[in-house]
Amino acid sequence: MSIPKLKALVCALAISATGWAQAADPITIKFSHVVADSTPKGQGAIMFKKLVEERLPGKVKVDVYPNSSLFGDGKEMEALLLGDVQIIAPSLAKFEQYTKKVQLFDLPFLFNDIDAVNRFQLSPDGQALLKSMEDKNITGLAYWHNGMKQLSANKPLRVPADARGLKFRVQASAVLEEQFKAVRANPRKMSFAEVYQGLQTGVVNGAENPYSNIYSQKMHEVQKYITESNHGVLDYMLITNTKFWNGLPADVKPELEKIITEVTQHVNQEAEALNQGDKERILAAKTTEIITLTPEEREQWRTAMKPVWKKFEGDIGPDLIKAAEAANQAQ
Ligand code: LMR
Repeated sequence: MSIPKLKALVCALAISATGWAQAADPITIKFSHVVADSTPKGQGAIMFKKLVEERLPGKVKVDVYPNSSLFGDGKEMEALLLGDVQIIAPSLAKFEQYTKKVQLFDLPFLFNDIDAVNRFQLSPDGQALLKSMEDKNITGLAYWHNGMKQLSANKPLRVPADARGLKFRVQASAVLEEQFKAVRANPRKMSFAEVYQGLQTGVVNGAENPYSNIYSQKMHEVQKYITESNHGVLDYMLITNTKFWNGLPADVKPELEKIITEVTQHVNQEAEALNQGDKERILAAKTTEIITLTPEEREQWRTAMKPVWKKFEGDIGPDLIKAAEAANQAQ
C-alpha cells in the first residue's frame, strides 16, 4: 500500500473510532429526591453514585439532586415516567395512584418496629409489591429504610384527645388522612419541601416524621414537643422507569443491580443508628422535649387509630395485611 493510501486509511480509522467514542457517551442516571444528604435516603443516593462511577467508569454517570432541587413531591413520579429522571425513591405513602396495595405500609400500628418492616419487605409478599406496578412502567428495585415516625406539635401529645382539632401535615396518602381523622385532628396534605414553613407559620400545627427528617429539616426548631409514638413507618421504594431499565446494555444492568443490593444493605443497616443520632442531636439542641409514652398511653393511640385498617382492607387485601402482621413474630 502506498504511503498516501495508508495515511488515508489511518485517518478513516481514527474518524470512525471518534464516532464510536461519541456514540458510547456514558448513560446518565438522574436520581432525584426530596430529603437532605445526611438522611438514610440522601446517604444511599451518594453511595450509589460513588459505586457506579467507580465500577462503571465511562459507562454510567449518576447525578444526584437532593432536597427537591430538581423535582419535588407530586412531580418526581411524573418525571420518572416521562424519562426526565431515571431513579427516585418516594416514601411508600406516595404510591396510591399507582397501586392501592402499597398503602399497606401506612396502616398505623401495623409493624412493631423496623425489624418487622424489614422481615415483611424481604418476604415473598413484600418482594412481589416491587413488581406490582410494571404495567404502569414502574419497576421497584429495592426497599430503603428511613425509620419509624414520631408525632410532633407545639403542645404535648400524650393521649389521642390531645391531638383533637390540631392541623397535621400529611403526605399524599388517604390512609394517613384517615389516621389523623381517627383522633379528630385535621390532616392537611402538603409536599415535604413546604413542611418547615407550614409549621413555622402555623398553617399546620403538627407533623409525623422519623427523627432524621425532623432534624435535617430543622423542624425541631418550630415544634416544642415530639412524642415518641413509633406509630407507623416511613420507608422508601427505590424505583426506576421499566422501559429504561429493561433497555440497559447487558454489561451495565447486572452491575447496577449488584450495586443496588450493596447500597440497600448499607442503608438499611445504618438507618436506625442515623435516626438515633439525630434524636440525640435534637435533645442536645434543647428546643424540643421528647415525650416517652407509657404502655397504657400508647395503647390508647393504637385503639383510636386501628379502625383505619378496616377502611382500607378491601383495597389492600386482608391476606396481605395478615402477612404483614405475621412479620412482627421474629422467625
Ligand atoms: C415526607 O414527605 O414526609 C417524606 O416522604 C419525605 C421523604 O422522602 O422522606
